Amino acid sequence: MKITFLPTLILALFMASCHKDVPQGPPSSVHHATPYKITIPKGFPTLLNIPADNPMTVEGVELGRYLYYDGRFCGKPDTLMSCATCHQQQHAFMNGIGYAHGVTGIQTGHIMLPHVNMVFNSTAYTWFGLVSPQNPDYQIPHGYGGNLEDVVYLVITLTNECHSDTNACKTAIQNIPIYPPMFKAAFGTETVTFKNIARAIAQFVRTLISANSKFDKYIRNEVSLTQQELRGYNIFNTETGDCFHCHGTILFTTNGFYNNAKDSVFTDPDDYYSVTHNPLDIGAYKAPTLRNIAITGPYMHDGRFTTLDQVIDFYSSGLVNSPYVSPMMLKIGTGGAQLVPSQKADLKAFLYTLTDSTFITNPSFSKPAGLP
Ligand code: HEC
Ligand code: HEC
Repeated sequence: MKITFLPTLILALFMASCHKDVPQGPPSSVHHATPYKITIPKGFPTLLNIPADNPMTVEGVELGRYLYYDGRFCGKPDTLMSCATCHQQQHAFMNGIGYAHGVTGIQTGHIMLPHVNMVFNSTAYTWFGLVSPQNPDYQIPHGYGGNLEDVVYLVITLTNECHSDTNACKTAIQNIPIYPPMFKAAFGTETVTFKNIARAIAQFVRTLISANSKFDKYIRNEVSLTQQELRGYNIFNTETGDCFHCHGTILFTTNGFYNNAKDSVFTDPDDYYSVTHNPLDIGAYKAPTLRNIAITGPYMHDGRFTTLDQVIDFYSSGLVNSPYVSPMMLKIGTGGAQLVPSQKADLKAFLYTLTDSTFITNPSFSKPAGLP
């Protein structure tokens, strides 16, 4: 087991990389850029995962939005691909199908993950936690100690995504006339570096906050939930359904990694075990947020369930035992929560209250008009 949990170190990392106060003022080297103020929604964590050397600025976020949507990003003139090719706003930044394919047609190892509320996640990114300050094997040239900036580097290099290199990306962006002035505004120089490309995209991704679902409005006392939705919330949030241990809090995820009892044989080379080398993590994956869950199917890292009904049936009576099942799967002894049909319907009704239609239509998160 290579991961040792070092509370002091982790705490130090958190303190070094997170700002509690908003706005996040830029360092003096980018004093000309305008600080971008993240408004923390009611009830959300106040700890923001923003690296000290990449403070949010209005200009940086805007540049990041352009790059996120610009198909020339991979630096391959005959193939257009950007983050938004796969992460699509109308699907809460999933792709609506599950698996995706890179520029050369190679399929991704897992299905997509959405982009939502990631600025509140300080643990790890990807289904198996590859990008994380706690992954000792994760060393890359442009390292940010395992943060969103590193994901941008991965996207450029992975064979099942851009299958390119940072130099090709940087050169392509430098040669598109709109960008040098935007880099000047955001980072103080017209010279494009890959590091600043990664910084800008990460800044934009950190603005993708979803906090306006029916459930949020209920929390803010703006609307009521129906009796059925309230019954479903109760199932979700108590031992009856036993969902809240892993999908609890206002984020509807702990951002933790668990084996949720789907299988007894484990063959995926990219589970959480592949990162931690701790046998207890065999078959474990990130518990994804359940925000917008009604519109982000198919479900699980391999997309094995196409509907929420199938997911609820699984948690109700489909659990499979193995030595690796998370101790937090309290219903493993009975094969599931054993919900009756009306309880299943109640739980589903509650999950539907987590859809945020303003998030998937917010023009600040959409493709800029000026892009081809
Ligand atoms: C070819 C399709 C594709 C493209 C292009 C793509 N992604 Fe992804 N993205 C994925 C898939 C698939 C996953 C899940 C991978 C996994 O966990 O195994 C993912 C996962 C992520 C995650 C992890 C989310 C989480 O909650 O842990 C982040 C962050 C991310 N992508 C950011 C980006 C950014 C930024 C870009 C553009 C620079 C981008 N992606 C481009 C397919 C893509
Ligand atoms: C022990 C922790 C744990 C508990 C308890 C738990 N889940 Fe999960 N859940 C997970 C993990 C881990 C995944 C992802 C597993 C994978 O992809 O292989 C997941 C995936 C899901 C997904 C699919 C998400 C997606 O984007 O693909 C849904 C929906 C879901 N859970 C709902 C529930 C509901 C409803 C309950 C209660 C009945 C529940 N979960 C209880 C850990 C848990």
